[in-house]
Amino acid sequence: NLQEPFLMILFGGAGDLARRKLFPALYSLHRNGLIHDRFAVVGLGRSVREQEEYRSIVRESVEKYSRWDTETEQDWSSFLNRFRYVSLDVADASGYKDLLGEVEGLEQKWHLPQNRLFYLAISPRLFGDVAIQLKEVGLTQTRGWRRLVIEKPFGHDYPSAKELNDQITGSFLEEEIYRIDHYLGKEMVQNITVIRFANSLFEAMWNNRYISHVQITAGETVGVGERAAYYDHAGALRDMVQNHILQMVTMVAMEPPSRLKPEAIHDEKVKVLRSLRRWKEEDVATHMVRGQYTAGLLDGKPAVAYREEEGVPEDSTNETFVAGKWYIDNFRWSGVPFYIRTGKRLDQKVTEVVIQFKGVPQNLYFNKNNDLAPNLLVIRINPDEGLSFQMNAKKPGGDPEVVPIAMEFCNNCDVESPEAYESLLRDALEGDRTFFTHWDEVSLAWKFIDPIRRVWDQDKDSLCFYEAGSSGPVEADALLAKDGFHWHSPR
Ligand code: BG6
Repeated sequence: NLQEPFLMILFGGAGDLARRKLFPALYSLHRNGLIHDRFAVVGLGRSVREQEEYRSIVRESVEKYSRWDTETEQDWSSFLNRFRYVSLDVADASGYKDLLGEVEGLEQKWHLPQNRLFYLAISPRLFGDVAIQLKEVGLTQTRGWRRLVIEKPFGHDYPSAKELNDQITGSFLEEEIYRIDHYLGKEMVQNITVIRFANSLFEAMWNNRYISHVQITAGETVGVGERAAYYDHAGALRDMVQNHILQMVTMVAMEPPSRLKPEAIHDEKVKVLRSLRRWKEEDVATHMVRGQYTAGLLDGKPAVAYREEEGVPEDSTNETFVAGKWYIDNFRWSGVPFYIRTGKRLDQKVTEVVIQFKGVPQNLYFNKNNDLAPNLLVIRINPDEGLSFQMNAKKPGGDPEVVPIAMEFCNNCDVESPEAYESLLRDALEGDRTFFTHWDEVSLAWKFIDPIRRVWDQDKDSLCFYEAGSSGPVEADALLAKDGFHWHSPR
């Protein structure tokens, strides 16, 4: 049994992430007996709040966002009693002494063995200061374990990420740091390697002899929302590609690990990132596309242009869409393009990976276009979860035509999948870093991204436009058309 009693010290304790994701995740884990029954949470925030007020914030967010029905008043109070709010200005050293007192008090009250989970759901510019203060005041000296969970963005380029990392590693060891990439908490992202390594059919064919190319799509219908201040500087390249898209690429491309241990898996992922061809400045224009949405129609309703969104400068050249053609220069993948795309205000919310296999050596059949459809393996990640395998077969009903047919599996039709944050929080509490990003993945990802960013920052004309509600800029279609392919649009 990996469950141990713990204290969670939650910075940003009444913030958006805590409300929408962390309280509901904790509640779900607690309700289903997936974490130890002896735990407590100290929520930290700048505002002054009464304990009762804090507990009602927790309760409201669970009621609003949890996938479980509410329980009896008794159950509620047994859950809410564990939460304590402490007001702290994270930049002010003096508050940390009080925090230490609160932490020790709670550990005594709940008989906790000083297992401390520090969760920083706050702006990354504060990570360094917090890590230093935690160490100075002695909060990181525990008899049990100590772990640090942090949220992206980890810097905005390689130098800033390194600086941030140096600050944190002054107080925590790398193996105590859990960097969240919530895509790694998604059921079907975790399933990519299972599908590959548990099926001889796919593993035998998972290479450049049989695979024509790979497509990875992470499309969203939402726009920038209320996050313009962050997003207009980050852009889709830093917001989605540096982390989520690259993580999915590593899961598709990695070699089988020697064992199912975090370190072994991680080593293989790092090798992929090392083999990923880095685009030189002169290659960027032919291999990468960036776009921004203009006004359009989404689900029949008018949607404003990115430049008209609240908080976005009207001459912003920030991208809300990225497509790319990448290569992994190793024996397995040599010559196989990986096409990726992600964007906001697209026609569909869909994340999926498509593996397109090469054709048969000779077509014996004559069908409509005198062309057999390719075999496709579609891994649906979000919102539908499942697999689809497209093959060719004789058209049912005596017709001599050969037609594509699909075998379908739905992963979340009969069983509800846990939220990504539930899986990740549970892993962090059990000390399993498999689905967290390690420092060398972060650093290699930035080294791949930085040259692209530099070119785009210098060349504002690199920006294309697409209508809100469309499938993205035509330039992204042209990227595949040049190679004789097209994006497989989701259902
Ligand atoms: C986040 C990005 O990491 O992922 C957001 O910052 C994006 O801009 C979100 O909307 C998408 O996540 P999901 O799980 O809805 O695909």
